[in-house]
Amino acid sequence: MVIYPGKLTEVDCFWIGRIFESDIESLLTATEATFLEMHVEIPDRSPARESEASHTIEYEDYDSTSGSYDNTRVPIGLPIILDYLASTPTALSGQTVLDAGCGTGSCLSELRGRIGMLHGRELNAGMQQVAKKRFTDDPAVQIEQGSITELPFADETFDGILCNQVLHHLDRGQHDDADSADFPNVRSFFREASRVLRPHGVLVINTSSHQQHRDGFWWAALIPAAIDRMLIRFPSIDRLEKIFQQTGFVGFETTVPVDEVLQGENYLDPAGPLSAAWRAGDSSWSLTTDQELAHALDNVSAGLENGKMAAFLEEREQLRAKIGQTTFLVARKP
Ligand SMILES: C[S@@+](CC[C@H](N)C(=O)[O-])C[C@H]1O[C@@H](n2cnc3c(N)ncnc32)[C@H](O)[C@@H]1O
Repeated sequence: MVIYPGKLTEVDCFWIGRIFESDIESLLTATEATFLEMHVEIPDRSPARESEASHTIEYEDYDSTSGSYDNTRVPIGLPIILDYLASTPTALSGQTVLDAGCGTGSCLSELRGRIGMLHGRELNAGMQQVAKKRFTDDPAVQIEQGSITELPFADETFDGILCNQVLHHLDRGQHDDADSADFPNVRSFFREASRVLRPHGVLVINTSSHQQHRDGFWWAALIPAAIDRMLIRFPSIDRLEKIFQQTGFVGFETTVPVDEVLQGENYLDPAGPLSAAWRAGDSSWSLTTDQELAHALDNVSAGLENGKMAAFLEEREQLRAKIGQTTFLVARKP
């Protein structure tokens, strides 16, 4: 990104002949990211709606997409999750486990039958209803609606708590002080998780590192400004390690499932972005401006027509295969 500094500097610079709206958008995004790094407070300019009561940023319309969510997203990392759970003092069949932000309950479905008692807590009514229906009359799975920033459970209830791809939906708060004031709702969730975990219980988080966002999703190269907006919402892996420490957790570890993708078998559909239902499988699409989206879809259509999509996908896949899409983080209650 080059900013033309006009007559404000002696530094060599050059004139940019034509500036398009997307250039200005990119400039604003870079400026926003820099301000945030400098801990300068700025209003949120993304299309997201913030809900103070739930401490959540609703930039996905889950009420509309809950019915088709399972067509676009698959649960990943089951062996990793089971290994982490198995490292706690109680045998899996005797454990009580919470899936925080359980969505449609697809991960709970994979765990059903292997873990004694399962709970799912989900804020969005549409998603919660799909999960509730999935486990109707199943006494081993309880689904409740509510925010994970407040867990209405007694102290030391759970052997393990899972939280898959949810942290970026929590309101990131103001960035006055990098170590204590930002991501306050991630902190609230971790503190609550620590309270309701049994001693030596595990909190297992699945999220994406900033580099995984850029290289682990092939379409990220088509919508770079939306990816930058997305990154601001994701605590980095280093930041999460700090928050774990600050909220009383120990024994931090990470595992990257490089062979699995969140979108399952639909992932490499070169025409996928042309379908709104397909795009609903990844939140970054919902952070595009209308113009960015139109531009990305034009590129996809052109690539399909001129036969260049296959080479583009292959190039992007080489990057993903090295870095993966997501990272599992685990930390333990002492
Ligand atoms: C990307 S989806 C992931 C769903 C599920 N964990 C999965 O892996 O398929 C994010 C989910 O987090 C939920 N969510 C967002 N904020 C929440 C909060 N404060 N408390 C509980 N759930 C929340 C959303 O409603 C949505 O279902």
